[in-house]
Amino acid sequence: MFKVNEDYLNLRGSYLFSTIAKKVAAYKEENPGKDIISLGIGDVTRPLCPVIIKALHDATDEMSKQETFRGYAPDLGYEFLRSAVAENDYRKRGCNVDKDEIFISDGAKSDSGNIQEIFSKDNRVAVCDPVYPVYVDTNVMAGRTGEFDEEKMQWKNVIYMPCTRENGFSPDIPDNTPDIIYICSPNNPTGTAMKKDQLQKWVDYANEKKAVIIFDAAYEAYISEDDVPHSIYECEGARTCAIELHSFSKNAGFTGVRLGYTVIPKDLKDEKGNMLHSLWARRHGTKYNGAPYIQQRAGEAVYSEKGQQEIRGLVSYYMENAKTILSGLKECGYEVYGGVNAPYIWLKTPEGMSSWDFFDRMLTGANVVGTPGSGFGPSGEGYFRLTAFGTHENTKEALERIRRLG
Ligand code: MLT
Repeated sequence: MFKVNEDYLNLRGSYLFSTIAKKVAAYKEENPGKDIISLGIGDVTRPLCPVIIKALHDATDEMSKQETFRGYAPDLGYEFLRSAVAENDYRKRGCNVDKDEIFISDGAKSDSGNIQEIFSKDNRVAVCDPVYPVYVDTNVMAGRTGEFDEEKMQWKNVIYMPCTRENGFSPDIPDNTPDIIYICSPNNPTGTAMKKDQLQKWVDYANEKKAVIIFDAAYEAYISEDDVPHSIYECEGARTCAIELHSFSKNAGFTGVRLGYTVIPKDLKDEKGNMLHSLWARRHGTKYNGAPYIQQRAGEAVYSEKGQQEIRGLVSYYMENAKTILSGLKECGYEVYGGVNAPYIWLKTPEGMSSWDFFDRMLTGANVVGTPGSGFGPSGEGYFRLTAFGTHENTKEALERIRRLG
């Protein structure tokens, strides 16, 4: 008789955004005809930019002709895209990253979940709290998190680094030394971002402790302030301690197209000299047949002059929403954070209300869906996340409804 992987049985409830989707579906069924505005999951709403659409069409045409048809993609990614990434996201920013250190994938969510496979099961993981749930859940699946402490609402073997109003939502160095440190900046969910000196502190710490940082840069396109780094490789010493994850979902609207990449420098080795780069390459070769050619051509188009212009327009569109949300909430008296270097706004729930109670109040009273802060970790309790990825019309209407709700 087969047995299931019992680590999976330790997972608690369903994935956060699936839980929300179920709650919203149930509410809709009970209240047919209600016009619900979703500012919950960070999913884009604008159509793909013209330059991307053309690249997708052109690549599809190539696939339809005998002379230009392509089968399996190279598992680490096509040369044309790896070069475009190395040139535009790194060389132009003064970062030393070679195209061979870039692994093209179907997105940062998969990579952020899968990357832990190349680390020993007894490695100690540290996460910011609140945290993008994928980092924790995938370590639960891997049996790395120990038991769940119901009182603290934490996994016993995970080091939680609270990100609170008091520390400006930037984690402090923990008392216990981690082996793997997850950092997302600009941050999901708080919408805040680390300055260069704050990130440098983590790079120095990781090098000193021989820990690795998994740096999630999915939201870097939203950075508006000069002293916020777009890549961890802007920090000195990052090549020996950091992996970086990137997504085309948030900058170019690829949530439904699927494309991302991960950087693993060849200088990143464990104490025995094992290169993480080789292990990840081995994993790609075995478990992955490469992101589709058509998507990778679309990714390449993102880096063309026209592509850069168009995606800047897309980012500005969403950041206009961030302004609408920030100013609207402030006018209503809410305490708000984020929304300047990221498409997320993190608000303190009023009158000590729990995150889920506030979720219900928003859903039933304003027909607006947001994400309860406690779903991202214990320090998220009493907070609520709104996304700027809606349309202008829906975002304005949502704020109007929130204003009416009082
Ligand atoms: C979110 O809402 O947090 C995002 O959709 C996360 C993701 O990109 O998977």
